[in-house]
Amino acid sequence: MVLFLCKELNIFTTRDNTDQKDLFTKVEEKMETRNKIDQILESTDPVANKLKSLCNLLKNSIPHFHWVGFYFVHGNRKELKLSEFAGKPTEHTIIPFGKGICGQVAVSNENFVVQDVSEQDNYISCGIDVKSEIVVPIFVNGRNIGQIDIDSHDVAPFTKEDEMLLEYVCERVSQLDLKSILESSASEV
Ligand code: SME
Repeated sequence: MVLFLCKELNIFTTRDNTDQKDLFTKVEEKMETRNKIDQILESTDPVANKLKSLCNLLKNSIPHFHWVGFYFVHGNRKELKLSEFAGKPTEHTIIPFGKGICGQVAVSNENFVVQDVSEQDNYISCGIDVKSEIVVPIFVNGRNIGQIDIDSHDVAPFTKEDEMLLEYVCERVSQLDLKSILESSASEV
């Protein structure tokens, strides 16, 4: 069972007992986070509240996630609009396709893991504290309709597990009825 979980969560066993203890704690923590994600998504809350709760959960349970937000395509414009987020408010509520890490993901349709933002030319800074960023797109019927964006104050903090967790969140979010979110994004200019 544990081996199965480790494989599932992409964590590998070690010979050392101390490491194994850490490993169990890690597995438990990951399972708890996943359970909480599922609880939020399966609640009867309006979609916007679910997105907000997901942002809060991820920011509060993963120490190197310092800002967590969802951007969605802004109507039929070639730009993204900030939806729910947790962390410091940002002035970058609208991001043109192709600009910054977020805008590049709107075009590439691929995860973008930036372990050190100082190495990126096409980057929109949200503050001097931010040292790294990860963006994972959300697809509905094969269309890239938005993304989850994480900023961290640490250099090179992101793991493959973080990426997998965020892919899971995006997959589950894509199954929500996002009409109200996409419509509000379209009507507010
Ligand atoms: N850094 C992002 C802008 C959004 S903030 O991180 C909230 C980017 O380069 O697209």
